[in-house]
Amino acid sequence: MKQVLIPLAACVAATVVLAGCSGSGKSASASSSATGASASASAASSSATSGARAAAALQPKSGTNTAGTVTFQQQPGGVLMTAAITGLPPNTVHGFHVHEKGDCSAPDAMSAGGHFNPGGKPHGQMTTPDHHAGDMNNITADSSGNARVSMLLPSLSVGTGANSVIGRAVVVHKDPDDYKTQPTGNAGGRIACGVVAAS
Ligand code: CU
Ligand code: ZN
Repeated sequence: MKQVLIPLAACVAATVVLAGCSGSGKSASASSSATGASASASAASSSATSGARAAAALQPKSGTNTAGTVTFQQQPGGVLMTAAITGLPPNTVHGFHVHEKGDCSAPDAMSAGGHFNPGGKPHGQMTTPDHHAGDMNNITADSSGNARVSMLLPSLSVGTGANSVIGRAVVVHKDPDDYKTQPTGNAGGRIACGVVAAS
């Protein structure tokens, strides 16, 4: 009996301690992040509900065959953007941004306006402090003219706040973004465009 009880008791005690430890640790961080999330969600409409999704269907523009789908999902550190694009010239690099107006009606997509820039920042690379919220890394087409990319965008949200992608447009450019030229990155014409909607 003793031989069974002692290990059992030790096990129970250890389990309680472990559970107590990890339990309190978890609930502390979980409740603080939950509080933070609900606080920012209820703080006016700067809501960025984790898991919220949006998507855009890219349509060919400027006489190209470039098309694709782009999805956005809210995560704790930003918005996870995933894109699958087809119909690009093989082995080419293209500027890729969120633009301010959800209007792709013009044949050259100029109706989408400039880069989405709610923070009033200069144009730049998304990994540096100064960049438009809508600035994303260039995309590269493979030998078949397809590009698949995924990036965590630190300055966007999916929701109703000022930085939300919903109601904006995603644009693929003819040329690479040099991440320097103001305010466009000198990425040339617009070869595909899609309006971002909640999904
Ligand atoms: Cu652009
Ligand atoms: Zn920009």
